[in-house]
Amino acid sequence: MDGVFTIILLFCNLLLLPDFSSSHPLCTDLRAPFSPKTPLSFCPYNVSVCCNSAEDLQLQKQFQAMNVSDPACSSLLKSILCARCDQFSSELFKTETGSRPVPILCNSTVSVNSSQSNRAANDFCQRVWDSCQNVSVLNSPFAPSLQGRAGVPVNSTFSKLTAFWESKSIFCNAFGGVSDDGSLCFDGGPVSLNNTETPRPPNGLCLEKIGNGSYLNMVAHPDGSNRAFFSSQPGKIWLATIPEEGSGGTLGLDESNPFIDLTDEVHYDTGSGLMGMAFHPNFANNGRFFASFNCDKEKWPGCSGRCSCNSDVGCDPSKLGSDNRAQPCQYSSVIAEFTANDTTSQPSLEKRAKPLEVRRIFTMGLPFTSNHGGQILFGPADGYLYFMMGDGGNKGDPYNFSQNKKSLLGKIMRLNINNMPSAEFDGIEASMESCSIGIGGATVVRSAGDGGTRSMMIGSWLALGRGMGEGEGIGKGKTVGESEIYDRGLWGNYSIPTDNPFSDDKELQPEIWALGLRNPWRCSFDSERPSYFMCADTGEDRYEEVDIISKSGNYGWRVYEGPLVYNPPLSPGGNTSTNSINPIFPVMGYNHSDINKNEGSASIIGGYFYRSMTDPCTYGRYLYADLYASAIWAGSENPENSGKFTTTQVPFSCAHDSPIQCKSVPGSHLPALDYIFSFGEDNKKDIFILTSTGVYRVVRPSRCNYTCSKENVTAVASPGPGPSPSYGIRLSYPQKELVLFFCSSLLLLLGFIL
Ligand SMILES: *[C@@H]1O[C@H](CO)[C@@H](O)[C@H](O)[C@H]1NC(C)=O
Ligand SMILES: *[C@@H]1O[C@H](CO)[C@@H](O)[C@H](O)[C@H]1NC(C)=O
Ligand SMILES: *[C@@H]1O[C@H](CO)[C@@H](O)[C@H](O)[C@H]1NC(C)=O
Ligand SMILES: *[C@@H]1O[C@H](CO)[C@@H](O)[C@H](O)[C@H]1NC(C)=O
Ligand SMILES: *[C@@H]1O[C@H](CO)[C@@H](O)[C@H](O)[C@H]1NC(C)=O
Ligand SMILES: *[C@@H]1O[C@H](CO)[C@@H](O)[C@H](O)[C@H]1NC(C)=O
Ligand SMILES: *[C@@H]1O[C@H](CO)[C@@H](O)[C@H](O)[C@H]1NC(C)=O
Ligand SMILES: *[C@@H]1O[C@H](CO)[C@@H](O)[C@H](O)[C@H]1NC(C)=O
Ligand SMILES: *[C@@H]1O[C@H](CO)[C@@H](O)[C@H](O)[C@H]1NC(C)=O
Ligand SMILES: *[C@@H]1O[C@H](CO)[C@@H](O)[C@H](O)[C@H]1NC(C)=O
Ligand SMILES: *[C@@H]1O[C@H](CO)[C@@H](O)[C@H](O)[C@H]1NC(C)=O
Ligand SMILES: *[C@@H]1O[C@H](CO)[C@@H](O)[C@H](O)[C@H]1NC(C)=O
Repeated sequence: MDGVFTIILLFCNLLLLPDFSSSHPLCTDLRAPFSPKTPLSFCPYNVSVCCNSAEDLQLQKQFQAMNVSDPACSSLLKSILCARCDQFSSELFKTETGSRPVPILCNSTVSVNSSQSNRAANDFCQRVWDSCQNVSVLNSPFAPSLQGRAGVPVNSTFSKLTAFWESKSIFCNAFGGVSDDGSLCFDGGPVSLNNTETPRPPNGLCLEKIGNGSYLNMVAHPDGSNRAFFSSQPGKIWLATIPEEGSGGTLGLDESNPFIDLTDEVHYDTGSGLMGMAFHPNFANNGRFFASFNCDKEKWPGCSGRCSCNSDVGCDPSKLGSDNRAQPCQYSSVIAEFTANDTTSQPSLEKRAKPLEVRRIFTMGLPFTSNHGGQILFGPADGYLYFMMGDGGNKGDPYNFSQNKKSLLGKIMRLNINNMPSAEFDGIEASMESCSIGIGGATVVRSAGDGGTRSMMIGSWLALGRGMGEGEGIGKGKTVGESEIYDRGLWGNYSIPTDNPFSDDKELQPEIWALGLRNPWRCSFDSERPSYFMCADTGEDRYEEVDIISKSGNYGWRVYEGPLVYNPPLSPGGNTSTNSINPIFPVMGYNHSDINKNEGSASIIGGYFYRSMTDPCTYGRYLYADLYASAIWAGSENPENSGKFTTTQVPFSCAHDSPIQCKSVPGSHLPALDYIFSFGEDNKKDIFILTSTGVYRVVRPSRCNYTCSKENVTAVASPGPGPSPSYGIRLSYPQKELVLFFCSSLLLLLGFIL
């Protein structure tokens, strides 16, 4: 009976295996690989690794404990243990449900499509079988019970592979590499990726204008429909329908009829306003949504919270002086929760919500008036709320907030808003806590009799997918999925995921997920690879950057500006030396002088990995832009999953059949976008550009006469490109006109980014 069960489970496991995706170099604990200060003495990994010397020593002991006499098998086993130190260990050890005891071993049948070098040629799994099948190993890592599936508990005695596995093919079925999806496998040494041919950048981005309004944020409706929310900086959110591409329709948005109007609470100024919004993944059922905005305590009594300049971080508010006539901590950054669950039982049918704050999630007083990010996003894999916060402003982060682990400025935070410490005080019934997270059907339940201080995840996180289950491969032991209520009440009402980085680094405030940012302006998760958490971070004087955010990553600011050492002009808060930190450098970006020599660029606007087939030539590229709207870039990753990008500035123009005619920059073919504020993505994964002149969508290249060989032009009603000249070249950059145009523009710098 056990045996049958075992086999069924084993097959289920195998069916699940091909379902996970590849990712950039990442360690099993979700941290970025690093350069070891001293070379590892046991494992042959040295440049970018996932083991420190303590872990290296641990592996050495584990290896010695196996007491393997056969030299061939012994060296293979050593290499297998050491795969933990590989910069791709997260990928090598990942399963749907957690972590494997040994990495995925390359199998002769693996895909030819993988970017990994030498794969097809190296049947590593077979080598392991052939060399080790008859060799006795103490505490064998190949015991079936360690595979997490098979039933027979294994005694810690010497055992041969043949004791567990009947044949090579059964063995390689269990441990061999998967094919098709291009995920990585272990072939006996460090994973190296094969450079494929450099992907050609798209010839151009074709835009159509579908709205006249100026918005700061766009968020797709979580119910999967063709609707999205748009928000304005002064504080309104609208629910709009998105027209079919090519239909000639415009955005269905009634400015006079907002979904919610928060203008009474929001402090609106060049650098302040309604900065972000997020809809609970299960919004369609629970109606919970969140707004991130700035408020002024002199205008609104609800605007009170702790000042981010305080003695804990070596900052005295009375010494800061005023900024733009504002006193320190006169303004705050706030996350407030609202509900669209007033009248009907179906929040997704709601067309408006009352501006009645259900709950305050977070309030923090701001030292100065700029650089306070404000975007909020739910992580697609973990369901937690990520909150992007800038360094708080002024020149060069004078108080060193971004590097200060006690400060929440210059950080990305990660909060659990499904467990509320204050639940029993603010009238939420305990039953309301059993809200389903939606993406996985996991259920958060307040456990009875625990006094509200602790809660447990009940049910399976398996379906939350992408390996975010239990097992130390991804989180730490069983901590993922459990959550600790954090109720010191410093900043608000939320709980802290127990696997936030503070669990390993006690100096870190528990909210912190990543540090060393200046002003993250637009982050996104790749919808096909959730481990690609991309953030653009605005530069100070010289460099605008895009980072891949990983757990506890330090992105360097104000020690570095992008890859460049930064010398702060003011240091009342002391300094951090370059060799005291291990910064993670940007994967994309641009120099201010790249755009034009005279005026320079303004600041970066982070976008998305383009995942729509509307423009197949842009598919898989990461798009970002400069605020001044004279440049849009596409970043191509090569090799795939290497985390290495080549970037190209791409031409863009407006479709001749755009539903709303685009104005042109005088004397050029460039559409007059004026200022790019943000990008947006709808449920079809189409990409939108939110600008001061309206809402634009990236559409089929042929509508701008850009050639894209992958586009099915026969399906298109509008005229095809024919034997066309290269229109991409025709659209050169009329820089001089642009400079004149922008200089004459009255809308000067947008303080919220700069
Ligand atoms: C890293 O290890 C490889 C192989 O073990 C070796 O060829 C290379 O020289 C080493 N590099 C450094 C910087 O130690
Ligand atoms: C290791 O193996 C050797 C012989 O191969 C044996 O003498 C020794 O007792 C073994 N050690 C342990 C701890 O089992
Ligand atoms: C790299 O890929 C190319 C084509 O995809 C292949 O011909 C070549 O053999 C590969 N090189 C290695 C080292 O795997
Ligand atoms: C392992 O043992 C089997 C059966 O005893 C034998 O057929 C095979 O040749 C052995 N393999 C090695 C590599 O010694
Ligand atoms: C492990 O070995 C010991 C001693 O040989 C034995 O008493 C015990 O039953 C074994 N356990 C299992 C699960 O086989
Ligand atoms: C690994 O290769 C063996 C044959 O060598 C094959 O039977 C097995 O299905 C392969 N396993 C996987 C997971 O690809
Ligand atoms: C490799 O990729 C191509 C194109 O993406 C696809 O048609 C083919 O089926 C893939 N081959 C395998 C073995 O996955
Ligand atoms: C947008 O503005 C243009 C010109 O001002 C106007 O013709 C058009 O009707 C407007 N479209 C929408 C959908 O508001
Ligand atoms: C939403 O409204 C329904 C029906 O009124 C109610 O049963 C449910 O508990 C509410 N949910 C929340 C999260 O308030
Ligand atoms: C600046 O931050 C670093 C990193 O946290 C810290 O070591 C240093 O002491 C800070 N400087 C001051 C004066 O707090
Ligand atoms: C694109 O080509 C069509 C005909 O091939 C032409 O009518 C149209 O004006 C062209 N559009 C642009 C923007 O050049
Ligand atoms: C292109 O579109 C046409 C019309 O929709 C369709 O019949 C044809 O199969 C499509 N071709 C490809 C390669 O998708």
